[in-house]
Amino acid sequence: MVAGSAMATDIPKEGAACKACHSIEKKQVGPAWKDVAAKYKGDKDAVSKIAANIEKGGKFGWGFAASMPPKGGAKPENIKMLAEFIAGL
Ligand code: HEC
Repeated sequence: MVAGSAMATDIPKEGAACKACHSIEKKQVGPAWKDVAAKYKGDKDAVSKIAANIEKGGKFGWGFAASMPPKGGAKPENIKMLAEFIAGL
């Protein structure tokens, strides 16, 4: 693999703040994003639902001790891109 190719092994730089609580493969303070993708598998509205949840934050039934902070530290213009990334894992 060529360095810099689009491999879903790490969170994109637009989501740097998300890394405090999430990784792609492993549960941390919040759910692994692969698990989030699995939750929405087959849902045609996955991207808009995930984006809306990132936007408002809170609890989504995962049962983690912490809550998702609204926007999770992302810039508003990056939320849709991050939702697309997560839905596509
Ligand atoms: C302070 C910790 C923290 C940060 C920072 C954070 N999250 Fe979360 N996130 C959580 C927790 C905790 C949950 C699960 C809440 C629950 O138990 O339902 C969660 C849940 C989620 C979910 C699941 C939504 C669903 O519909 O089930 C997504 C997607 C998500 N986060 C994306 C992000 C993104 C994108 C960022 C960065 C922009 C981010 N998070 C930053 C803690 C965090």
